[in-house]
Amino acid sequence: MTWWRSAVIYQVYVRSFADGDGDGVGDLAGVRSRLPYVRDLGVDALWFNPWYLSPWVDGGYDVADYRSIDPVLGTLAEAEQLIAEAREHGLRTIVDVVPNHVSDQHAWFTAALASEPGSEERSRFWFRPGTGVSCELPPNEWVSHFGGPAWTRTKDADGVPGEWYLHLFAPEQPDLNWDHPDVRREHEDVLRFWFDRGAAGIRVDSAALLVKDPDLPELDPASPAPHPYVDRDELHDIYRGWRAAADSYPEPRVLIGELWLPDPDRMARYVRPDELHTAFNFDFLTSPWEADRLRECIDSTLAAHREVGAPATWVLANHDVTRQVTRLGRAATSFAFETKRAGVATDPALGLRRARAAALLAMALPGSLYVYQGEELGLPEVENLQPHWIQDPMHHRSGGVDPGRDGARVPIPWSGSRRPFGFSPDDAAWPTWLPQPDGWASLTVEAQTADPDSTLELYRSGLAIRRQEPGLGDGELRWLDSATGVLAFARGSLACVTNLSGRPVRLPAHDRALLSSAPLAGDRLPPDTTVWLRLGTHTDNAAPAGDATQRSD
Ligand code: NOJ
Repeated sequence: MTWWRSAVIYQVYVRSFADGDGDGVGDLAGVRSRLPYVRDLGVDALWFNPWYLSPWVDGGYDVADYRSIDPVLGTLAEAEQLIAEAREHGLRTIVDVVPNHVSDQHAWFTAALASEPGSEERSRFWFRPGTGVSCELPPNEWVSHFGGPAWTRTKDADGVPGEWYLHLFAPEQPDLNWDHPDVRREHEDVLRFWFDRGAAGIRVDSAALLVKDPDLPELDPASPAPHPYVDRDELHDIYRGWRAAADSYPEPRVLIGELWLPDPDRMARYVRPDELHTAFNFDFLTSPWEADRLRECIDSTLAAHREVGAPATWVLANHDVTRQVTRLGRAATSFAFETKRAGVATDPALGLRRARAAALLAMALPGSLYVYQGEELGLPEVENLQPHWIQDPMHHRSGGVDPGRDGARVPIPWSGSRRPFGFSPDDAAWPTWLPQPDGWASLTVEAQTADPDSTLELYRSGLAIRRQEPGLGDGELRWLDSATGVLAFARGSLACVTNLSGRPVRLPAHDRALLSSAPLAGDRLPPDTTVWLRLGTHTDNAAPAGDATQRSD
């Protein structure tokens, strides 16, 4: 079973997808009621962000119990029902597993806090004495991904400050010690728990961070030694164990890694045949809207994946990054957490035009594709959330400098002309957990359905063609000769041409145009537009003979 090599996977951020019970927060009942929508969009699988019991300090990535569903979202029985119903609609389910850390409310961590330094309970985490005269300083100077120190000091039962514990994210997300056998055992159990309930696979959160150098050395970029907690070689053994568990099912389960690694070759090591199946392509997601840079990303991605026989993935957005309509409308179009700031000027019309072109480009590339809920509606980032609404610790722990990620997590507009735009039932008592902008009436699913110019219909058409077209999905790509600033490649008898050159360009010889992200200008492709062409009689001569960019395999 290799469905995942070509799959289109739709990411559901449950709290913001659809609210079934009217409390302003999306839930499993809401997802169940909207399954036909996702089926009709033309995707193969759903990836759900964490839905487990959680204090929601980090959007559910602080898991208190993997074996129960948070009551705000539903029940375990409902999750089982949802997985089964999705399957009836032809949709597989991917669940999110967060192995680097747990919530500080997890039974293991509360037991650790209640136990003595040096105890078995504490050894599942990274507890250490502090440094300085009276241990008033953290064990080292590692910094949390959300800002501030990666260590928090505990208090002993008598209220006296005690040991420190490590958290690469928020203090409420203590890091697990992957050298401890319980940690390994427990996670393999959790995988099986969800596989047994019909999950077709798991998304592995922060997959490059689990293993730490037990000496916890300071970071030294000049040192040739492996990084103390990123991309350590010991990780591969863990994923081999998970692969064995995934492969033990009659329909083997799929492992998808969240690996933010700049080097495509290092990343490819995680998708070797006995490890994870695929990994998110963050190089593509962060790339600027520039032909050379995108081509380099496509080539290096495909080369690194070819080496290990894994399919590439193409991702333009997720719940952690600025929505592409806003990002691509800016002067600087790449994405970086470090430079993300609110209020940087953006041209929404240009951003939408580019986002549509980027979508058709991504859909045509070899491998699998991710669609983050709302991108098919062309939703922009909501950049004017008042601070009191924002829940993301990235915002609060940066002292408000970083806008955080909630602007990409605003509830989806489904129908109607007033908030909550069908997200909650009509008689809902509560506002949505993050407020939708007033002006989203034209972006609802209802408003866009059957409008041939809408972004939703562009996604529907593109995904329908992708599904039927034998040349798309997994497979090979053949670059076509093209003008500077233009990306043109063939997949079988279909060509995908994206114009990033800023001026109209002539289309290559073709039989007919199948789909374009903006109207064509006669035989010219306007700027910031992607077109899919049926090469037909021109399939073989679309690339000049001996083209050095042609792939030979
Ligand atoms: C990556 C997740 O996508 C993000 O939302 C989360 O904050 C961190 N991992 C920590 O779990």
